[in-house]
Amino acid sequence: MCGIVAYLGERAAAPVILNGLKRLEYRGYDSAGLAVLDRESIVVKKSKGKIASLEELIQDNYPGGNIGIGHTRWATHGRPSDANAHPHLDCEGYFAVAHNGIIENYLQLREWLIKKGHKFTSETDTEVIPHLLEHFYTGDLVATVQKALQHLEGSYSLVVLCKDHPEMIVAARKNSSLVIGLGRGENFVVSDVPAILEYTKNAIILDNGEIAVVRRDQVEVTNFAGEPVDKQPIEIQWDPIQAEKEGYEHFMLKEIHEQPKALKDTLYPRLEKKGTLFNLEGITISPEEVKKLEKIVIVGCGTAYHAGLVGKYVIEKLLRIPVEVDIASEFRYRNPILKENDLVIAISQSGETADTLAALNEAKSRGLRVLAITNVVGSSISRYADDLFYTWAGPEIAVASTKAYLTQLLALYIITIQFAQIRGTMSAEEAAELIEELKRLPELVQQIFAEEEKFKQLAEICSDASSVFFIGRGLDYPVALEGSLKLKEISYIHAEAYAAGELKHGTIALIEEGTPIIALVTQKEIMDKTLSNVKEVNARGARVIGVTLEGSEDVEKTVDQVIYLPVTSQILTPILTVVPLQLIAYYTAVSRGCDVDKPRNLAKSVTVE
Ligand code: AGP
Repeated sequence: MCGIVAYLGERAAAPVILNGLKRLEYRGYDSAGLAVLDRESIVVKKSKGKIASLEELIQDNYPGGNIGIGHTRWATHGRPSDANAHPHLDCEGYFAVAHNGIIENYLQLREWLIKKGHKFTSETDTEVIPHLLEHFYTGDLVATVQKALQHLEGSYSLVVLCKDHPEMIVAARKNSSLVIGLGRGENFVVSDVPAILEYTKNAIILDNGEIAVVRRDQVEVTNFAGEPVDKQPIEIQWDPIQAEKEGYEHFMLKEIHEQPKALKDTLYPRLEKKGTLFNLEGITISPEEVKKLEKIVIVGCGTAYHAGLVGKYVIEKLLRIPVEVDIASEFRYRNPILKENDLVIAISQSGETADTLAALNEAKSRGLRVLAITNVVGSSISRYADDLFYTWAGPEIAVASTKAYLTQLLALYIITIQFAQIRGTMSAEEAAELIEELKRLPELVQQIFAEEEKFKQLAEICSDASSVFFIGRGLDYPVALEGSLKLKEISYIHAEAYAAGELKHGTIALIEEGTPIIALVTQKEIMDKTLSNVKEVNARGARVIGVTLEGSEDVEKTVDQVIYLPVTSQILTPILTVVPLQLIAYYTAVSRGCDVDKPRNLAKSVTVE
């Protein structure tokens, strides 16, 4: 997630900004920059890479001036580069803007501004903002910002520095956090409180739809229409570490709770205003090539592999072409049978996993087209793939993947619905119906959090177990695999997932009195079959937690504890089913005193074979 730091007061702005940006490094970024109003002109310094590169760039000549803005960028549109780093300027260098979020209509705005003669110097969505300000500027900075905001769609928190106005910084917020730090004769605007804690604990939290005019000794807040909003300052209670996690005990819990936003950020910018085809910028495979597809091979590791297994069910059901899913480290050595009309989909949150990169190169060496689904713009996988689908989940800091997994599933749904319409296996009406359901998923995931206390109690059932089993059929089976991985990788409890129908072929020998089993029972057409498997393990004394859709009383009667999920389309249930499993794994690990965010022996990105 990008980081914003803005300052005005008595101090030199550049060192304060750099110091604040360092406090936001945990948010994940790939470039950094600052803009300071140094006497009559705005001086911009920015650099790809870490803040140290920026410091190196300005080490001998820190820009002067005591008002400025700074930014750490987590790339979404436009790979990490000096040019794409924020802050961005208009043509004349009148305005500098730093932004966090996604401007969904940036392409239209960019075209419109270019027609008006504006010259762009980056690939970013953000750069439309300073040019819009330049276009509307009347001398009244606040009114100009209000006018520009009316043309922006999407999520943003932003700060504006104007050459004509050394007395103020204007800030605005829609969906991405923004905090105003209140000092004595100085004020700050930051994405998160860690950036101000060493200067002040008094702050105003800006809410969605609010603009703040920040002066050295005064802050005025209005809504986007310019009507004053009364904001009560708060005193920040968090210490810096707590503040990095926005009050959550671990990044993993924070990222589980960020899933509704991650889904929204990944889906909404791809929805077209009219029709049911998505705007899949980055995916260039032609409709003719899509129609010629004979097979899809999905490769990935760990959680990404599990996402691919869900993809198999979805693609085969909606596209009616065969799908193979390979563990990437197996794919590259099994001399796979591939034909020219096959498509390889490589899934990788980090985009740096050695096994997945090697599998992608194997496919490329055979002349196949590769579509990559990744969460890191400019990552290695994004440079080697022919087609790119970025999940805009924001940086995933915890080793155990959660929000990235959910947006990988979403990516597969979106791509499948797109291809199914192109190949004619899905009508526009059917697509419209499914897309409406996709749009409900963020709110449905949010609803699941209401049961969090229950998941915490259910985790007690697993905490002392030596083994926990996850079972499911159909779409529930790959989710069972993901649930078992989550549990074992952070709580160190042995966990296994089985196709429910497979238990009786051997593994049921392990079930004994009190063995915890988490049974996923969301697929109506095979529910009875799964319930009969649950009865088999019940008969051996297992303690069964059932996860099912609201209204499935038969499940409740068969299991020891039931978790109900909000109802959605059967094919979309994996996005919901996994959430309780993530939370049960999380609370089990916490109860066992494990290092949840950095489990033993694991790395966030396995860049070795
Ligand atoms: C998931 O919780 C694990 N941390 C791990 O299995 C991970 O999914 C795997 O290493 C693949 O990583 P990638 O998505 O970055 O390629």
